[in-house]
Amino acid sequence: MKKIAVIGAGTMGNGIAHVFAQNGFEVNLIDTQSAALDKAVLTIGKNLDRQITKGLIHLEDKQKTLAQISCFTSLKEGVQDRELVIEAATENSKIKLAIFTEIDQYTNAHCIIASNTSSISITQLAEATQKPGNVIGMHFMNPVPVMKLVEIINGKATNTAVTETIVSLTTQIGKIPCVVKDAPGFIANRILMPMINEAILALEEGISDAATIDQIMKLGMAHPMGPLQLADYIGLDVCKNILEIMEDGFQNSKYKPAALLSKMVGEGKLGIKTGAGFYSYP
Ligand SMILES: NC(=O)c1ccc[n+]([C@@H]2O[C@H](COP(=O)([O-])OP(=O)(O)OC[C@H]3O[C@@H](n4cnc5c(N)ncnc54)[C@H](O)[C@@H]3O)[C@@H](O)[C@H]2O)c1
Repeated sequence: MKKIAVIGAGTMGNGIAHVFAQNGFEVNLIDTQSAALDKAVLTIGKNLDRQITKGLIHLEDKQKTLAQISCFTSLKEGVQDRELVIEAATENSKIKLAIFTEIDQYTNAHCIIASNTSSISITQLAEATQKPGNVIGMHFMNPVPVMKLVEIINGKATNTAVTETIVSLTTQIGKIPCVVKDAPGFIANRILMPMINEAILALEEGISDAATIDQIMKLGMAHPMGPLQLADYIGLDVCKNILEIMEDGFQNSKYKPAALLSKMVGEGKLGIKTGAGFYSYP
């Protein structure tokens, strides 16, 4: 496999494109917004510069990696000759289902279609296509160039051969695959998001301030980042969406987003990407 496409050039899409391009894959990066594509290429360049500064790669590697990436605003043009398409668009079922139908339409019967969704059912996404056996979850962690884990999610119809291909590909790009079944939030977010939500509830109730809550979890649990700092990093809108999908999927109000989280999202305080969240980012 050499030719892949990544749909969505946001936080995750640019990281996924970076890693595949760095490992010699030809990457078509697709977004409806040309500004998002420009920003993604700049971000990838900056992240490659950081790898050069750390002595991990040379200047030629940066040039080679960037040369492997082509940008598209047309999904059809970007996916049509691809062997693997990884969807990393906005966490919204309606948007993703429409994208899956389109990818299916423009790719051949052998193309594997993966989603980087944090919580939406892979089985449901697969049902929007004519090749559900080729649909699988590839849940990368943020920041993609740094984090080793890829949670691989088998939908009800995912073919064993497709899982084997994706597990082997994940290893090939220097990541560690962990295979799980399809359930709301899979494993990573099913455990992480209730912790983040609980930290927000504690803040909302005035039990302590954000820095102290984070400090307790860093010092007490040896977490490298506190839950509120991590929420800012992930994006508060992304956290809210995942909690709502789990609340709906499990029909259990224990996953209901804290009122403070909903309020902050409503005010456009989405964390690092907007410069304001539980902390401010000048
Ligand atoms: N942010 C995280 O830490 C994180 C971690 C793991 C997984 N994820 C998942 O990755 C996915 C992307 O999240 P993100 O944080 O990168 O979001 P983001 O908001 O940073 O980027 C999403 C991008 O998708 C684009 N997009 C929307 N509709 C599109 C369409 N129809 N066609 C093409 N592009 C479209 C948007 O223009 C935007 O550039 C989500 O499913 C999210 O749950 C996020």
